[in-house]
Amino acid sequence: MPEKILVADDEDIVRELIQNILEEEGFEVVKARDGREAMALFKEAPFNIVITDLLLPQMNGEELVGSIKQIKANTDVIVVTGYSNVSMVVGVMKMGVTEFIRKPFQPTELVLAVKKVLEGQRLRSHNAKMQTGMIEMEKLSIIGTMAAGIAHEIKNPNVFIKGGLKIIKKYFDEVVPVLLSLSAGGTEKEALSRALSQYETKIGPAVLSAINGTERIAEIVKGMSTFEHNKARDVKETDTKALVKEALTLTSHRVKYHNLHYEVAGDLKKIKVNAQEMVVSFINFIVNAIDAIEERLKKEGREDKGNLRLTVRDNPDKPFQTIIFKDDGCGIDPKIINQIFDPFYTTKDVGKGTGLGLFLTKGNIERNGGSLNVKTAVGEGTEFTVELPHAG
Ligand SMILES: Nc1ncnc2c1ncn2[C@@H]1O[C@H](COP(=O)(O)OP(=O)(O)OP(=O)(O)O)[C@@H](O)[C@H]1O
Ligand SMILES: [Mg+2]
Repeated sequence: MPEKILVADDEDIVRELIQNILEEEGFEVVKARDGREAMALFKEAPFNIVITDLLLPQMNGEELVGSIKQIKANTDVIVVTGYSNVSMVVGVMKMGVTEFIRKPFQPTELVLAVKKVLEGQRLRSHNAKMQTGMIEMEKLSIIGTMAAGIAHEIKNPNVFIKGGLKIIKKYFDEVVPVLLSLSAGGTEKEALSRALSQYETKIGPAVLSAINGTERIAEIVKGMSTFEHNKARDVKETDTKALVKEALTLTSHRVKYHNLHYEVAGDLKKIKVNAQEMVVSFINFIVNAIDAIEERLKKEGREDKGNLRLTVRDNPDKPFQTIIFKDDGCGIDPKIINQIFDPFYTTKDVGKGTGLGLFLTKGNIERNGGSLNVKTAVGEGTEFTVELPHAG
């Protein structure tokens, strides 16, 4: 379908000229000779672009642009004018006119302006689609990180439970036949007392270990509920320590190979955020830091563990809390520092990083009223500082 363009101009020659130029390019053109007619046509059917003069009879160009923007604020308007009244030009500019063309104009100027506006429209709709797609991808990449974390977390307690239950079964396998023979009038008292004496040393700890395992699993499952799917975005008073703990649990399969220095300065005030968005963001800082540490260790052929420092503190007299993720990893080259927040920018191998982490993380932090800063030096390390507003 060709793009539809509404052209409002009171000069017959100009109207015809614009129509001819644009139809030649394959656009559909609808003409109006004054502001009121243009408005009536605009209300009837949608247009991709409105091209208008500023000096129009009935309703002047400024009023026309105002009325159009009121009906559909994102309508692209191109103003074609020979009129030099600065205040009128400023007036329509404030309303958000996309392009200006000065009369007399060359046909190519008009065609270029129209194509530029349409390209802008295509980009905007592409971006909107990308945003939705990205939110889906964010869920995917975080599910990957979490799945690994959860698998690891559940493996250990499951070992306790299995081991505990095996011991319990073996015990009863031994004791029950003795009890049965006793109840049938047998005389295996010695065997029975031996078996019972093992209760305290074996069965007690085995049962405890199994119970611990189930409690640990329950805790992990409880933490997971933060990530419930399709939950409405809820923002509430939260304890940063709980969020950090959650993020560390879900990354423990990687953090454990490095030195973690976690410091919470004094009693913390509560913050008011969406917990899920913050945990996801913290996970990204932690994973990025570990990737950087491992890259440096590998490059320098070192056997030590590298350091990840995590600090949380309130600021006296300031309405926000500071959370710092500092690593002594490879650092970031100043040449790319402006790109790290771009979507899909990654220096990691294919399949390892999507490059969406910091883009989404920054968005998450800003959506929660916070801010994000980075300090880095190649060969020294990187420090991401997050500031989040205190609750109430
Ligand atoms: N702590 C850090 N140290 C060194 N470089 C970092 C650090 N954090 C981010 N970067 C750089 O910024 C880039 C972008 O990070 P981002 O989190 O957006 O994507 P990613 O980690 O590559 O992929 P994803 O997070 O989607 O798995 C990284 O590829 C890396 O080059
Ligand atoms: Mg990342």
